[in-house]
Amino acid sequence: MIIQGFWDIVHHAKNIHPEIFKDEKNVVFLDIGSGRGLVPLMFAFYTKFSKAIGVEIVETCHKEATDGRKELVAKYPQYKKEISKIEYILEDVFKINFKDLVKQKAPSTKNPKLFIWISSLCCPPNIMESLAKKLENEAPKGSIIFTSKA
Ligand SMILES: C[S@@+](CC[C@H](N)C(=O)[O-])C[C@H]1O[C@@H](n2cnc3c(N)ncnc32)[C@H](O)[C@@H]1O
Repeated sequence: MIIQGFWDIVHHAKNIHPEIFKDEKNVVFLDIGSGRGLVPLMFAFYTKFSKAIGVEIVETCHKEATDGRKELVAKYPQYKKEISKIEYILEDVFKINFKDLVKQKAPSTKNPKLFIWISSLCCPPNIMESLAKKLENEAPKGSIIFTSKA
């Protein structure tokens, strides 16, 4: 069911913002607060985006994500291409500059755009405001932001 739910989201994203899916190779997916890493995994498999990055501040969650990735590599060598797009970063997202992140992680993308995912239902308003300012300054033009609340 969870898998189905996430697949629906990718599907709806394609309907809502078809323009970003016209040039998928130049899009980097970024999950802000990636938890155990399921969402980058879904986008790595169901899109042709160049990278699927998750940034998570809680070490135990990050470890579960990276352990899961290692397990996938070992069990499913046939999906090497998809799995190699996934990267999990243990960091406070406010310490990461998104422009630098895109340059560093997807250097071959032309006019890269970010597809940003924020599961923000538990985020207090002041955090959302800081994040909005950060995104306004750092997200490349044409980037898309999916958030559970503004
Ligand atoms: C609701 S979970 C979302 C998990 C996943 N993205 C999803 O949609 O299922 C939010 C995550 O954001 C992380 N988080 C909160 N503040 C953060 C920050 N400043 N930097 C990075 N991650 C953060 C939390 O630890 C938590 O794992």
